[in-house]
Amino acid sequence: MEVIICENTQQIAAKAAEAIAVLLKSKPRAVIGLATGSSPLSLYDQLAAMYQAGDISFAQAKAFMLDEYIGLPPDHPEGYRNVIEREIASRVDFAPGAVQGPDFQAPDLAKACVEYDAAIKAAGGIDLQILGIGSDGHIAFNEPGSSLSSRTRIKTLLPQTVADNARFFDGDEAAVPKHVMTQGLGTIMEARHLVLMAMGSGKAEAIRQIVEGPVSAMWPGSIMQFHPHATVLVDPAAGAKLALADYYRFADAHKPSWESL
Ligand code: GLP
Repeated sequence: MEVIICENTQQIAAKAAEAIAVLLKSKPRAVIGLATGSSPLSLYDQLAAMYQAGDISFAQAKAFMLDEYIGLPPDHPEGYRNVIEREIASRVDFAPGAVQGPDFQAPDLAKACVEYDAAIKAAGGIDLQILGIGSDGHIAFNEPGSSLSSRTRIKTLLPQTVADNARFFDGDEAAVPKHVMTQGLGTIMEARHLVLMAMGSGKAEAIRQIVEGPVSAMWPGSIMQFHPHATVLVDPAAGAKLALADYYRFADAHKPSWESL
């Protein structure tokens, strides 16, 4: 796991955007994993700017979303499909249908979850997966207690996550769906490169636990310690509880020029 303590959100976004740009140049048909939440928004702004400048193209690429709420009307602005459309898909040149998410309108949701994993596999798997982290250590919507080898499935949110996400629903916890479809931890672990972005002191404990704590279903993001190519990008506040912070800074300062993320 590579941990980089960046100066600020812009630097985190720039590093993640650069990793995607390098990937798209070497593999125009790359498959990218897109995350929702506020953490990747600055990355999406940078990708849109790079596309506008003619530096990158998603024309041949595909993308898969991490997760989706169950029960919102299809046109609800906070439905994750709509968030992804608004924040990134509509701002770059993905081909029609190239961005997929779990089918929250399927008559058989459990079957749709199995089909979603199959669609990721059929696309050749995800090359680079963007991740945020919940304050309780969840990635996608894999709440504490999630099986470390779980596949895409239906989950019930923890009250903490409902409370955290109420800010997207005018602070109304009752309006936040309690059920979701989410890629499983086992699904996410099959992506070839994981890039997690975390900012702010509210993420500091989760970052400490998933990077330096024991691998445990109680802190689901800790499964990333088993991944052969995982990058954790934090700002100083999110990295404030890391015991090896000085080492991560030393390693970054001495990073060979040939080594990318
Ligand atoms: C939601 C999403 C996660 C995201 C988390 C943190 O629960 N399902 O993918 O990582 O929120 O969100 P934020 O980045 O807004 O803190």
